[in-house]
Amino acid sequence: MNKVYRWALTALLAILSCGCGKVYDVRVREDFNDDWKFCLGDIAGAEVPAFDDSGWRELELPHDWAVEGDFSIENPSGTGGGALPGGIGWYRKTFNAPAADSAKVWRLEFDGVYMNSEVFINGVSLGVRPYGYISFGYDISQYLHWGEENVVAVRVDNAEQPNSRWYSGCGIYRNVWMQKTGRTRVAPYGVYVIPKMTYLPDPKTGGMGSLHEGFFFVQTDVIADDVEELRLRHTAVDGNGKKAGMVEEVLGVKEIDETELMVRISEPHLWSVDDPYLYTLVTELETLDGELLDRVETRTGLRHFFFSPEEGFSLNNEPLDINGVCMHHDLGCLGAAVNRHAIRRQLEILKGMGCNGIRTAHNPPAPELLDLCDEMGFIVQDEAFDMWRKKKTAHDYSRYFNEWHERDLEDFIKRDRNHPSVIMWSIGNEVLEQWSHADADTLSLAEANLILNFGHSSDMLARNDGNKSVNSLLTEKLADIVRQNDETRPVTAGCNEPAPGNHLFRSGALDIIGFNYHNHNIPDVPKNFPGKPFIITESNSALMTRGYYRMPSDQMFIWPERWDIPFHDDSFACSSYENCHVPWGNTHEETIKLVRDNEFVCGQYIWTGFDYIGEPTPYGWPARSSFFGIVDLAGFPKDVYYLYQSEWTDKDVLHLFPHWNWEKGQEVDMWCYYNNADEVELFVNGVSQGVRSKTDDCLRTVWKTVFEPGTVEVVARKDGRDVRRKAIRTAGEPAAMRLSKVQYGEYAEEDALCYVTVEIIDAEGNLCPNADNLVTFEADGPAFIAGVDNGNPVSMERFKDNKRKAFHGKCLVVLQADKSGKTRLTAKSDGLASESISFIAR
Ligand code: GAL
Repeated sequence: MNKVYRWALTALLAILSCGCGKVYDVRVREDFNDDWKFCLGDIAGAEVPAFDDSGWRELELPHDWAVEGDFSIENPSGTGGGALPGGIGWYRKTFNAPAADSAKVWRLEFDGVYMNSEVFINGVSLGVRPYGYISFGYDISQYLHWGEENVVAVRVDNAEQPNSRWYSGCGIYRNVWMQKTGRTRVAPYGVYVIPKMTYLPDPKTGGMGSLHEGFFFVQTDVIADDVEELRLRHTAVDGNGKKAGMVEEVLGVKEIDETELMVRISEPHLWSVDDPYLYTLVTELETLDGELLDRVETRTGLRHFFFSPEEGFSLNNEPLDINGVCMHHDLGCLGAAVNRHAIRRQLEILKGMGCNGIRTAHNPPAPELLDLCDEMGFIVQDEAFDMWRKKKTAHDYSRYFNEWHERDLEDFIKRDRNHPSVIMWSIGNEVLEQWSHADADTLSLAEANLILNFGHSSDMLARNDGNKSVNSLLTEKLADIVRQNDETRPVTAGCNEPAPGNHLFRSGALDIIGFNYHNHNIPDVPKNFPGKPFIITESNSALMTRGYYRMPSDQMFIWPERWDIPFHDDSFACSSYENCHVPWGNTHEETIKLVRDNEFVCGQYIWTGFDYIGEPTPYGWPARSSFFGIVDLAGFPKDVYYLYQSEWTDKDVLHLFPHWNWEKGQEVDMWCYYNNADEVELFVNGVSQGVRSKTDDCLRTVWKTVFEPGTVEVVARKDGRDVRRKAIRTAGEPAAMRLSKVQYGEYAEEDALCYVTVEIIDAEGNLCPNADNLVTFEADGPAFIAGVDNGNPVSMERFKDNKRKAFHGKCLVVLQADKSGKTRLTAKSDGLASESISFIAR
């Protein structure tokens, strides 16, 4: 993975160094993921350097041991946590610290370890870090044996469960870095870049005219104990590698922290969701003699935005609906183990339906997610916590909140504040501090999820008597911590108590009112919260199983029917028509219209973009992953994906569903999502079923048909001409497999991924919509099978395997490159001809 990073770095260095021929090596940040050893279990003495780990498993990070396990009702994570194992695990790595580096500072950085990590260097404990989503690091220089072997050992404790309402993963599931600098250096998160723009007055109106100049105002935090004065230089490099602006000043070391320098960009190129243009700010520290001491690159962008209480959101003065989705961090069958290419795939699929926003539900994300959101153009709501002091599950972060929230929140803001994609901070999701007394302590995990949305009476709200409750004061404190570290972005929180007496709202500390659900309260927001901008932090929680349809499609299934009684339906599935959602939620269509019709609404973050492991509402065991996604866990879009594509993009859309394999004579509802046409007409075996058009009020067309084998076809017309057509044929028996692949990270030698979709088809090439054939895979070459899936939330099959059943005709295998070369993947299934496909990682 870091090959790509290094390549980019080298290219940039080459550009910057032309003219002076100088190549900088003052700061090196290397990935520290290779050659680790791992053992599951709490091993006495494993931190001791001489400990014999020869029998331990060798692996590369990032690693998630939970996703390697079997689903079981016995696993303490419960179905809410994905029913996968927890436990304690140890990681060890032996490495050399060359004597030549002994004057340097080595800092070991972890992007995230779930959870309760303790890091040891040569047997010395460097500290613990409870929060599993926070990035942290340690200066290890003083503990190193220079010129000798050193041992890092990490104990990871995810034994006490449940501690999460969704699947967390277990282990060092994000990247690890070794950063080497000189003694005088930029501090961790020590460059803070604030973009600003100026506009010329409009000659006609006198108002704001065209963009004039851009500026990066830069605050720098330096650690220096051996120099008094420094030359500090910031150079902005544009997207073509050209110098776009520069500032330098000689400053006393003590002055640096107080000094804000300004880099002027004379021809600014703004960042936006359609044109995510980035700059790199190069920060250099030099002695007065010109010796380079440190050099840090910060990628950032120029953009400005406004949340208007009346007119909604605008980016760079252009009104923009935030068409966002909430995402948990797992990557389907890869579990929580971060892979940049897997995140890119998710984001590409989401972009394809017109999505332009990500809410990092409900925790600090992997840095790679934000890098990709910067590069691909997403409006990020970056979220800190799912709970504060009041717990939602027995062993969750609330246990550590009092001791750790200040540190965690500060580190989180400082880490993420240079990303142009990050547009707002969320200090919490549905924290129980919204109410005076709302404790989930005594509830089961399933109940805790549900109580969040039920049964809060008005006596649990804050009084409007001028006094601030403890909960309001806590809100204020958290918002203040955010503002102390970043004043450029608004603070919000995902709230499922819509009344102004919500303790969070009553604090007055939130810049943006954020509702989870409660669509019917939204029209009253301007009246209830005068002068405050508003966003839907979470919407819908519609439930769908890809490929499953419950008729009649105009009957709504509001599941679970009772929050206090376990829900059961023999299907263990949810209908993929828009006719199933949770009682606190809505259909997708309802919220699209609500945002469209209420200008003050800045947009929405739909629950959720992708299905995720855990929280299989409305079901319990053996369901173990969610039904909420617009896209299933394997990455196959559900039908509603095309509703968004038809509403949120200009791409031509004509999506007809469901399939055409039913009982003869059965009444079947056919639905169609379309755009860029005036009308659509449906034909069953050539016989018209009527012409339909969508309306402002109904964003789909529906026909009640009677099934007969053959072809159902929809034709879209514009200005009287046929512009598109889509036919679905009755599929015969499974006869073959169709393999298709999408490759991510072609030029990255390691970690490149190839997603291979297997479709079970009949002799004519039609997808068999009910096929569940078992497919086995063989990978011949340097890539290995990283995971298999089919998007079925109720499957007990392992994610790490070389076989998978099809689900509604499809399954997925993910290949991961170990090193460069060609890998041939062969898929076999009883009674079907084998098929192969190749994956080349260069
Ligand atoms: C919300 C919560 C989410 C998820 C969702 C399911 O209340 O914020 O984390 O649990 O409900 O509908």
